[in-house]
Amino acid sequence: MTADTFHLNQQLPLATDKPLWLFGYGSLIFRADFPFLDRKPARIAGWQRRFWQGSHDHRGTPDAPGRVATLVPAQQAGWCVGMAYLISPEVLHPLDERERNGYLRVMTDLHLQGQGTVDGLMYIANADNGAFLGPAPLPDMARQIHHSAGQSGPNADYVLGLADALVDLQAEDDHVFALADAVRALRRTG
Ligand code: SIN
Repeated sequence: MTADTFHLNQQLPLATDKPLWLFGYGSLIFRADFPFLDRKPARIAGWQRRFWQGSHDHRGTPDAPGRVATLVPAQQAGWCVGMAYLISPEVLHPLDERERNGYLRVMTDLHLQGQGTVDGLMYIANADNGAFLGPAPLPDMARQIHHSAGQSGPNADYVLGLADALVDLQAEDDHVFALADAVRALRRTG
């Protein structure tokens, strides 16, 4: 599949013209640069965050991709905690622009804090998109992130911003916290 998913997302039918809930698990948690009507901590089952998606735009370039978060099926039962935003359907256009580097819209059951379960939408970058990188040893991923930057800034800021946001949400995420520790150590030592 192409690395540019903007048109694929734009062709997806939307069953409602009413506000809908979007689940953010990566930069959508800590960089909410789109209009929203409400926002609540939320969680989904069956998925885990992994820095396995390459970034050719926001945090890297096609020749020197950064690494950003996607979701992969979870190995064990548990929750992936993030932030849900209630958005008007027209906000999907700028979101499809923002997430165009490999992410596709997917429906999910979304557990909103204090409000029960609702239908939600999220953006996932699958293994078959042209920018997908997949797993690598932690030190290699940390080094790649330390050296990458794109139109939204240093790749390290993404990892550290997400780790801080997850601490604020009191979320557990060994993968993100281990990567953030490794990136901090590289920043200290150069
Ligand atoms: C998300 O944050 O939910 C999607 C991935 C990203 O834009 O970082």
